Amino acid sequence: MVEIRSIGVMGAGQMGSGIAHVCALAGLDVGLYDIARDRLEACLNVVSANLGRQVASKKITEEQRREALSRIKLLTDLEGFSDTDLVIEAVTENETIKRKALSQLCPELKPGAMIGTNTSSVSITRLAASTDRPERFIGIHFMNPVPVMQLVELVRGIATEDETFEAARNFPAFMVNRILLPMINEAIYVLYEGVGTVDSIDTAMRLGANHPMGPLQLADFIGLDTCLSIMQVLHDGLADSKYRPCPLLVKYVEAGWLGRKTQRGFYDYRGATPIPTR
Ligand code: 3HC
Repeated sequence: MVEIRSIGVMGAGQMGSGIAHVCALAGLDVGLYDIARDRLEACLNVVSANLGRQVASKKITEEQRREALSRIKLLTDLEGFSDTDLVIEAVTENETIKRKALSQLCPELKPGAMIGTNTSSVSITRLAASTDRPERFIGIHFMNPVPVMQLVELVRGIATEDETFEAARNFPAFMVNRILLPMINEAIYVLYEGVGTVDSIDTAMRLGANHPMGPLQLADFIGLDTCLSIMQVLHDGLADSKYRPCPLLVKYVEAGWLGRKTQRGFYDYRGATPIPTR
């Protein structure tokens, strides 16, 4: 059995920060890579603040917070992964960008190193085929916010070895998004068709289905570009018109209103409280 002691995280975005957070807290050495130094520093601040929330609610101690932070090394050079056991790719949810990132990563890795991808929709078999080690490649899909959510989906490609799968499982199916994203897309159709407002749709699902967030609030939280990408993959891959991305979702993405990360999506986050944009 391969033991994973060191982890690399490629991409210091929303998911990268969460993955680095939980891995460092679990006692693993973490290398966090991004091209931009300022993004790495911002990401470490996010991890620090989120660890702080866990200290405040007594889930961890201040000592654990400090130790976790000290285990995260910031890297702007992929050579920093030369001795890493498992590198998890968490760059933008776009197949071309992911393939490019993987092709840059592979030559820097030691021979037995595993690669995980946090994709939530792109085919693992296809991404694996673009690497030099398809048998050591696996989908490790975290949910946002990573430190809070209890599920991690492990997804095998056609070439993934049992040993790789077991190693990934011991280390803590795209089923969730297949169900979740069509629900979000349907909520956007309900808005698009004028059946409900942003507020009434979210309130209905919070109160009527006991969801912690309404679907439009959740869409903003995930990122509308990511939601659109996932719907496109479902639509293209499964060739079923029920996955057709709602035109209103496309419009929001075209406008650059991508949700919380750009301060505007189905809600406007620029003031003290989020205000529905429709
Ligand atoms: N890091 C650490 N702790 C965090 C955190 C973070 N990023 N975000 C929230 N928390 C903690 C808070 O500190 C709080 O802890 P406490 O109960 O000990 O005080 C607890 O989580 C609850 O947070 P809040 O009180 O701030 O707010 P809520 O009760 O409204 O919960 C939420 C926030 C956990 C985000 C909740 O609204 C929720 O579960 N929403 C749904 C999230 C979801 O569906 N995620 C899946 C998205 S799909 C996905 O990720 C797949 C991708 O591929 C698209």
